[in-house]
Amino acid sequence: MPLLFLFLLLFFSPLFLTLSLSQTTQPPKGYLIDCGALSETQIEGREWLPDSGFVSTGTPKNITTPVLLPTLKTLRSFPLRVTKHCYSVPVYRGAKYTVRTTYFYGGVNGPDRPSPPVFDQIVDGTLWSVVNTTRDYVNGNSTFYEGVFLAQGKFMSFCIGSNTYTDSDPFISALEFLILGGSLYNTTDFTNYGLSLVARHSFGYSGQPIRSVRKLLSSSIRCPQS
Ligand SMILES: *[C@@H]1O[C@H](CO)[C@@H](O)[C@H](O)[C@H]1NC(C)=O
Ligand SMILES: *[C@@H]1O[C@H](CO)[C@@H](O)[C@H](O)[C@H]1NC(C)=O
Ligand SMILES: *[C@@H]1O[C@H](CO)[C@@H](O)[C@H](O)[C@H]1NC(C)=O
Ligand SMILES: *[C@@H]1O[C@H](CO)[C@@H](O)[C@H](O)[C@H]1NC(C)=O
Repeated sequence: MPLLFLFLLLFFSPLFLTLSLSQTTQPPKGYLIDCGALSETQIEGREWLPDSGFVSTGTPKNITTPVLLPTLKTLRSFPLRVTKHCYSVPVYRGAKYTVRTTYFYGGVNGPDRPSPPVFDQIVDGTLWSVVNTTRDYVNGNSTFYEGVFLAQGKFMSFCIGSNTYTDSDPFISALEFLILGGSLYNTTDFTNYGLSLVARHSFGYSGQPIRSVRKLLSSSIRCPQS
């Protein structure tokens, strides 16, 4: 009986499901992950997944202040004392992905922490950037960062890291992985650099959500790095 129970527990654990899914089916072309959400939601015809299948640490939290975008209503908060918290997302090895991260603090760390924490975001073990949403947050805006990365394995890891400048629990509101067609970024030699960052931007926005990633990319990517 205990053995059966263990088996059932393992079988239905998110890790096992993720692993077995990745072995039997191909990953989709991308993932829209609504961090801290408890269930799937349909937003403007696109399906957002809860993040519980991609991460095993942190706590889902609700924002109590009004937000402009549905995905900002929830976030996942991570304890400050642990230096790294990682999402693991199934990908196609060798494909390029646009990774977009969105942050809206919403005061979740309490009234004695009115300012959002500043922390690191890390892709496949490489520091992507420091996440500083302070200025946008003062203006009531969320912040997003966008980069293009090469999938080196069957999973890509995205981590939130605490650093010396992090003074309260770091968090994330949304995480998007979108596969790129081969013709885009043709000119960048990803294989020589392993993991390359083509563009990095942060925007605050209070108006309409950005509907087209392609449109966004063509309008924002002007200065490839490396
Ligand atoms: C967040 O809101 C959802 C939906 O209203 C609710 O089910 C959930 O318990 C809330 N979570 C927390 C941590 O308050
Ligand atoms: C974050 O940004 C704010 C506003 O631009 C700035 O004052 C602050 O020094 C930054 N914090 C860190 C740790 O870089
Ligand atoms: C992309 O690469 C293919 C084959 O190497 C080439 O034919 C095509 O012109 C390239 N496209 C761009 C936009 O560089
Ligand atoms: C951010 O908020 C300010 C003040 O509400 C607004 O004027 C601005 O358009 C917003 N967006 C950006 C990108 O700063």
